[in-house]
Amino acid sequence: MTNSVPLSDADLDALRESLTGRPPQEILRKAFDLFGDSAAISFSGAEDVALIAMCHEDGIPLPAFTLDTGRLHPETYELLEKVREKYGVRLEVFSPDSAAVERLTAQKGLFSFYQDGHEECCGIRKVAPLRRALASKRAWITGQRRDQSPDTRAQVAVVEIDRRFGSPDRQLVKFNPLALWPSQRVWSFIRAAEVPFNALHSRGFVSIGCAPCTRAILPGEHERAGRWSWEEQTKRECGLHK
Ligand code: ADX
Ligand code: SF4
Repeated sequence: MTNSVPLSDADLDALRESLTGRPPQEILRKAFDLFGDSAAISFSGAEDVALIAMCHEDGIPLPAFTLDTGRLHPETYELLEKVREKYGVRLEVFSPDSAAVERLTAQKGLFSFYQDGHEECCGIRKVAPLRRALASKRAWITGQRRDQSPDTRAQVAVVEIDRRFGSPDRQLVKFNPLALWPSQRVWSFIRAAEVPFNALHSRGFVSIGCAPCTRAILPGEHERAGRWSWEEQTKRECGLHK
């Protein structure tokens, strides 16, 4: 039976303590046991595919959603469909509000983010659709990892309360089952379980977002160096996780 009352601070601390250091599969199972279909995996079409493969392997029927910004790489769309087909996951695709996109592009063109930063475009194409995706949810599950960014992700916990997208009246729990896994470990899992992955990963892309805002990285560069690479390092978050 799923949980229908908000978690108290003490519940959350106990949950975090019991899940920290546990395998991601166990965290996914717990998310489903607590919230059932009111929890969903937020799937970007990058190496977070591991979460969907883990659920499939362990028979955890969590649904998933993706935010289709309209600016994703063709390789990302291809992976989304491959994953839907291979794992039979219920994958909802959320699109941005067309009127908001039309207003932005009419005023500022298709590449405004190179001039005045990515916040406005990400706000319309990612953050607003995420709000809609989460409106009917009590928990969401992401592929965030601490080693993705020493600046912004070093403190990511395996489970936390999301106060940005939730509110005091509507508690939203956020699970980050891969928080403590380094990239190498995720990739060992992907290879061992023969999980399909985004073809861009074979061409020097590590962290993958929208096409105009993502580039391949050079040996020795940090993985998020390829995201919004024209901006200062400390600003490289799109607003989903700030
Ligand atoms: S971002 O905030 O910089 O774009 P990142 O690409 O590191 O995030 O991905 C971290 C996690 O955020 C992903 O594993 C996924 O859970 C979620 N996420 C990012 N982009 C999307 C997307 N387009 N659709 C759904 N989830 C996403
Ligand atoms: Fe727009 Fe770039 Fe943000 Fe995608 S990553 S929503 S194209 S600014």
